[in-house]
Amino acid sequence: MTAVWSLDRETFIKNARTVKGHNPLMAVVKNNAYHYGLDFAVKAFQEAGIQHFSTTSLHEAKRIRELCPEATIFLMNAVYDFDAVREYRIQMTLPSLEYYYRYKNDLQGIQVHIEYENLLHRSGFRTLDAIREMLIDHANNSKEKMIITGLWTHFGYADEFEVEEYNIERQAWISIVEELLSEGYHFGMIHAQNSASYYREDGLLPYHTHARIGIALYGSRPYNFLDEEKITQSLTVKAQVIQVREVNKGDYCGYSFAFQAQHDHTLLAVVDIGYGDGLLKSRAQHEALINGKRYPIRALMMSHMFVEVDESVNAEDEVILYNNDIRVDEFTFKGVGANSEQLSALNHHSLIKEIR
Ligand SMILES: Cc1ncc(COP(=O)(O)O)c(C=O)c1O
Repeated sequence: MTAVWSLDRETFIKNARTVKGHNPLMAVVKNNAYHYGLDFAVKAFQEAGIQHFSTTSLHEAKRIRELCPEATIFLMNAVYDFDAVREYRIQMTLPSLEYYYRYKNDLQGIQVHIEYENLLHRSGFRTLDAIREMLIDHANNSKEKMIITGLWTHFGYADEFEVEEYNIERQAWISIVEELLSEGYHFGMIHAQNSASYYREDGLLPYHTHARIGIALYGSRPYNFLDEEKITQSLTVKAQVIQVREVNKGDYCGYSFAFQAQHDHTLLAVVDIGYGDGLLKSRAQHEALINGKRYPIRALMMSHMFVEVDESVNAEDEVILYNNDIRVDEFTFKGVGANSEQLSALNHHSLIKEIR
């Protein structure tokens, strides 16, 4: 067997339904749907009752339109191919006052969502006054113009509990929304929350029409004290024991003295997965699951790894790197790397990919 990336479609859809509950969600499907596959994810989310999608790439936004003629597609990055945005009926961010003045004529007929910068500083209008200036200029513009459909921001600190920044950015954002609504502006869509904010707030923030959810829909928890039952991982990454070899105390195993056996009769399973398959080096500092028991990984090579095992493990046994019992989010909280980082690293060109 070559190592396998395997997805249980029913579980994926069931998780999306659970995450959604009765709330309107916009599914974030950027980066090939967090590496789960854009076509697969969009169709599965539709089955789970989600009709709104967002991505950072125009290329992906166009593909979503091909898949779903009626969906709402929101492009989170500023782009400059305005004809394509119009042709594919994509709604897009309005990322700054400067962008507005420069491209307001090009934006005619395009539905935009005004973006507030907040603490991340990646994009967006810097101040309420800058938003007001644009709104007044827009109101006074008698030419054919853009259509203001939404208001949005992105929280940079919703996943952090040790610092005050989430409360600061949340409060700043809510005041912006309240001010604009009290001044009589109306927005068809108001959205800000990623997975962490959505669970922290136990649903949508006031005035919000949607939450913009990524990682929870893909089966990983955004923070460690969130109940595991709330989010289910449908992905399994597994490999196989090729041989079990015995080494003795003091023997070095793997390249560059990667592991030194501490005892005589140490058993090392040679497993057919490595960093060439996208397993992070930091992940290999932890365990793998064989026949329901966890064993320590001792060395990681391009196409192989060593796992220290006992006599119960044999050639051809299945070695699980990730499934719902040994989840991606567990290793996120152990410092291996963000959920999305572990998922994105997996090499779909060398792993066998199956959707069951
Ligand atoms: C702008 C924006 N919104 C929403 C999300 C979804 O975040 P999460 O995957 O934590 O739900 C992301 C992800 O990085 C993002 O960049």
